[in-house]
Amino acid sequence: MKIAIIGTGNLGLSIAKGLVINNTYTTLYLTKRNLDTLSNWKEYKNVTLTKDNSKALSNADIIIFAVQPSQFDAILNEIKPILNDKHVLISTITGYTIGRMETQIGNQYPIIRAMPNTAISVGKSMTCLCNNVVGKKSLPIAEAIFNGLGTTLTIDENHMQAATVLCASGIAFWMRLIRATTQGGVQLGFDADVALQMSMQTAMGAASLLIETGTHPEEEIDRVTTPRGCTITGLNEMEHQGLSSSLIKGLNASFDKINEIAKQ
Ligand SMILES: NC(=O)c1ccc[n+]([C@@H]2O[C@H](COP(=O)([O-])OP(=O)(O)OC[C@H]3O[C@@H](n4cnc5c(N)ncnc54)[C@H](OP(=O)(O)O)[C@@H]3O)[C@@H](O)[C@H]2O)c1
Repeated sequence: MKIAIIGTGNLGLSIAKGLVINNTYTTLYLTKRNLDTLSNWKEYKNVTLTKDNSKALSNADIIIFAVQPSQFDAILNEIKPILNDKHVLISTITGYTIGRMETQIGNQYPIIRAMPNTAISVGKSMTCLCNNVVGKKSLPIAEAIFNGLGTTLTIDENHMQAATVLCASGIAFWMRLIRATTQGGVQLGFDADVALQMSMQTAMGAASLLIETGTHPEEEIDRVTTPRGCTITGLNEMEHQGLSSSLIKGLNASFDKINEIAKQ
């Protein structure tokens, strides 16, 4: 695959690392305005660093955009004259709709929106994808790229805001849960670093149980809650204090906010 990443900042760099590790490209162009931060990429075989987005586009088929939303209009205008029917466009730009892209460049190009989360930097991103009509046949390309950096799900574009809350903001929500259980562990007598390790591994174990066995969370809860035992006592106290309710309310508040921001 001949790939160009337009805007090699935090996210672009994580994607580039994944492409190298998974050996996904034949040619890779990385663009940004200040190339100094990419100096250690000069030695990579078949990787070209450039400030020239047009040059990158001319030499690649799959174009991954990872600039800030405010920078994207200008870049689409810049590259519009060079676009041709070999190009597949993958945008990671939060909140920038396919319709808005099509208004800028037309609806004849395959467009895929990808919403990864920051776990992409360790190859564990939950990445949601959606596509325009022409982009349907190019979805496997985006899946191949992002499955190498975690897991992908294809969803309707009108669910992209909700997916952003659940998966991208979700990283912060889960971090807070891990932090809170760590604080509880310290109160129970563990040093902070030990408690953190216990919390992290337990969270990973819980998720892995569901992923690998396909069981429902309540089934796993039933397995560890003995009648009159300590687990059900703790769990019910957490629910009396509003654990599930506060998480659901938080997700809804976050969703309201993202919709409000999108309207501005
Ligand atoms: N970080 C995440 O995990 C994540 C997750 C989901 C979606 N996103 C989305 O991904 C996009 C990028 O996020 P980020 O955190 O990676 O931002 P970032 O670190 O600011 O990276 C943006 C990059 O774009 C480059 N750039 C700006 N104008 C350019 C131009 N005209 N031509 C070429 N490159 C240009 C910048 O280069 P210079 O530094 O040289 O100016 C910078 O390296 C955002 O739209 C964000 O909403 C990010």
